[in-house]
Amino acid sequence: MRTSALLEVKGLSKVYPNGYEALNDISFSVRGGEFICIIGRSGAGKSTLLRCINGLIPISGGSIRIDGTDISALNENEKLLLRRRIGFIFQEFNLIERVSVLHNVLTGRLGYINDFCAAIGYFNRSHREKALWCLQRVNMVQRARYRADRLSGGEKQRVAIARALAQEPLILLADEPVANLDIELTWGIMEDLRAVAREENVPILVNIHDLETAKQCADRIIGIARGRIVYDGAPTGLTSGILQEIYQSDSAPVRYTTTNSESLLPATSGVLGG
Ligand SMILES: Nc1ncnc2c1ncn2[C@@H]1O[C@H](COP(=O)(O)OP(=O)(O)OP(=O)(O)O)[C@@H](O)[C@H]1O
Ligand SMILES: [Mg+2]
Repeated sequence: MRTSALLEVKGLSKVYPNGYEALNDISFSVRGGEFICIIGRSGAGKSTLLRCINGLIPISGGSIRIDGTDISALNENEKLLLRRRIGFIFQEFNLIERVSVLHNVLTGRLGYINDFCAAIGYFNRSHREKALWCLQRVNMVQRARYRADRLSGGEKQRVAIARALAQEPLILLADEPVANLDIELTWGIMEDLRAVAREENVPILVNIHDLETAKQCADRIIGIARGRIVYDGAPTGLTSGILQEIYQSDSAPVRYTTTNSESLLPATSGVLGG
């Protein structure tokens, strides 16, 4: 397993143009193979965090480094190139509905072919093999020729994972990937994601509402409340007090910093700002 951080977020803040501060002093780092669930109430800032990491929205302060590269220092073209190596999985799957599963996965290879081939939709044998391998990875190779709109929700999400894998991502981000799925499919998708993280050594950050699923599946949980990290550690360290901080508290959040559930005390002076 890679030992240096693939993603390093330091003192990140995000203020939307209307003046709303959605993220404040967010810091954490992520290594290859980690499977991390990000939890928090609606409006806590989970999607904003993933959008900042993906470079979809500009950050207001702090820094984000991906594989050592500070994304704020990149020009638009360089940002685009880096974004091709960041897989993003959406709640609504975002497949091209009227084309084949294989074609959908091949779109994950667009960053690896020239403009002419992209314009005519030509992917050579090695790209097709790679796409089929990605489908195999999520047990969907038998559906390669199906039209995407014929698939069930769980199958669509598997194809979306295969498409993200086809990007050969440095990191994979998933925003509520199981929100539209029943519990059985949820487990299947979360298992697939966890296996991909471990076996491909790609770190995966998953925003998720369902706490039980997060606790069962994640190696590590990051809990966000009102734009601040209030917990970063093992699922076993989520005490009822911390969960209250994450889900219920209306007062200023407290940050808990250890993975040891026996010694979970607020960090240093405790309250971070107010
Ligand atoms: N473009 C925007 N302009 C102003 N405020 C925004 C914008 N986008 C999001 N926000 C606000 O920022 C906060 C965080 O939003 P975000 O979508 O990141 O929350 P979330 O944790 O993903 O919530 P959910 O669980 O409902 O998806 C919310 O209060 C939201 O209203
Ligand atoms: Mg969200």
